[in-house]
Amino acid sequence: MDRIVVTGGGALSGQIPIAGAKNACLTLMPATLLSDEPLTLTNAPRLSDIRTMTTLLQSLGAEVTALNGGRVLALSSHGLNNHTADYDIVRKMRASILVLGPMLARDGRAIVSLPGGCAIGARPVDLHLKALEAMGADLELRDGYVHAEAKGGLKGAVVDFPVVSVGATENALMAATLAKGTTVLKNAAREPEIVDLAHCLRRMGAQIEGEGTSTITIQGVDRLNGATHPVVTDRIELGTYMLAPAIAGGEVELLGGRMELVAAFAEKLDAAGVSVEQTAAGLKVTRKNGRVSAVDVRTEPFPGFPTDLQAQMMALLCTATGLSVLEETIFENRFMHAPELMRMGAKIDVHGGTATVTGVERLKGAPVMATDLRASVSLILAGLAAEGETVVNRVYHLDRGYERVEEKLGNVGAKIERVREHD
Ligand code: EPZ
Repeated sequence: MDRIVVTGGGALSGQIPIAGAKNACLTLMPATLLSDEPLTLTNAPRLSDIRTMTTLLQSLGAEVTALNGGRVLALSSHGLNNHTADYDIVRKMRASILVLGPMLARDGRAIVSLPGGCAIGARPVDLHLKALEAMGADLELRDGYVHAEAKGGLKGAVVDFPVVSVGATENALMAATLAKGTTVLKNAAREPEIVDLAHCLRRMGAQIEGEGTSTITIQGVDRLNGATHPVVTDRIELGTYMLAPAIAGGEVELLGGRMELVAAFAEKLDAAGVSVEQTAAGLKVTRKNGRVSAVDVRTEPFPGFPTDLQAQMMALLCTATGLSVLEETIFENRFMHAPELMRMGAKIDVHGGTATVTGVERLKGAPVMATDLRASVSLILAGLAAEGETVVNRVYHLDRGYERVEEKLGNVGAKIERVREHD
């Protein structure tokens, strides 16, 4: 398996282009299942998770063609001939559950494997299922698969989510576009990826109001048409690379970055003493001399501080002056990076969902390993500020969510390389 080797030291300078959002693309792709006309997604990221979703959709009989080196995805579901999402694919990527709502809405039936737990927590899908049941679906759990049926189609309903869930909101939103009557999603997720999905569905002819707020109202239509849609900028890739000059020092402009995508995160950087400025081309992040200051962070659904930037922020705070408290409220097991950062000399105490970080003057390079993609990239960021060499093993996770990390960071002056290995 490939490894990434980072040699710390040295300020960064230059520009990093930010790709389309993985988590938006992973919900936009299944939207093809709602229509028999073509859906074209531009600004798609080139990631292994996108290839996994491609394989899943193709296994259902959809056509997915990557054009322009993978930047454009041409999708068509006119020849859908299988309604079973197999365990072998679903177990690789939890976002596979997002085919359930659209398939059920269009054809009245779907069989989808349950994804199971993952490295960051139990992550049930009960809210997805309850929303579809509220819309009249009959669900049965057999042999690890959800067998879903909606004879005569789905019906509009009021769905009040007890917990804010990005995926459940996406599944319900897609399903509701073809349900009979009006659906109201209350306590809906407000993430930019949900807004992007609503924009795409509207281009396909759906009637949706309120995306970006916690109440989304959908008026069902008989059919959806084809569309072309650009994938929104990846706010997590953006935030991750904003941390590179924050940790290593220097000034880097993140091309395509917009403040409203990362406002809560940028506020914390500002409090830590890192400057973030909107430019015509993106966001410019600058850290000159001295260490950053400690700040407290609590993860929350959007517009709060994103859980997907918690690991990377922790890497920064490991070198701050003073004591920072990080509280993870979204996932129960998302501090797996802490022991690895500690191997690099960080001082971290984890108690349940809270990590207390006492900043040190300098981290030290070490061989490290991570079990999810945000944890992996946090170790690369830490490596930028560490003395000596950091070797990040199991890069497989990284490739799920970051395209060519070594190239993007190398272009702004980081000493980073990928060592290819064939197991
Ligand atoms: C999405 O996961 C993202 N994945 C995650 O990105 C992200 O961390 C998460 O949202 C939160 O922002 C994709 O978009 C593909 P949730 P999702 O449903 O939709 C609980 C990354 O690194 N819950 O909003 O699965 C759940 O266990 C990743 O790119 C239920 O209890 O997250 C969690 O505690 C990892 N029942 C909370 O809700 C359900 O049916 C929020 O999860 C669904 C969720």
